[in-house]
Amino acid sequence: MVSEPVPTPEQANAIDRRSVLWRCCAVGAVGVVGVVAGCSSDNDQSVGNQQETGGASDQGSGQPGGGAQGQALAKTSQIPVGGGMVIAARKIVVTQPTAGDFRAFSAVCPHRGCLVSQVSGGRITCPCHGSVFSASDGSVQQGPANLPLDKVNIRVEGDSIAPA
Ligand code: FES
Repeated sequence: MVSEPVPTPEQANAIDRRSVLWRCCAVGAVGVVGVVAGCSSDNDQSVGNQQETGGASDQGSGQPGGGAQGQALAKTSQIPVGGGMVIAARKIVVTQPTAGDFRAFSAVCPHRGCLVSQVSGGRITCPCHGSVFSASDGSVQQGPANLPLDKVNIRVEGDSIAPA
């Protein structure tokens, strides 16, 4: 008959500590995963609310105009005088403050990163918290944003507007 060795009291304590430590780590890991999943969920919801308008057929890369350098953004006839168009897939807003004068800006609001959604009356509006920017130069007309929209260089060739 073979008998198991009986652990000394010190060995028994060490086993208990390892057991408790393992359980704490396992619970901690689950907690971290839960927190990360929670953050991800919040961000996904925020991004979903940003999708407004399209106008381009390619996919963006996270930067204004991203991934489609040089490809046309819009036709000049699509941009109303005094207004503009948000090209969500490219994260660019193109405006025409006066006839024949086309401008472009990042459509990413500098406040918290929503895409601007409307251009009318010479104003570009962010739907998330109500910031308003000038369609002429991207400057802040109304907060909470305190930085202007970044300018995007464009070129107009015939009836086509493309990133410069
Ligand atoms: Fe545009 Fe807040 S993200 S106003």
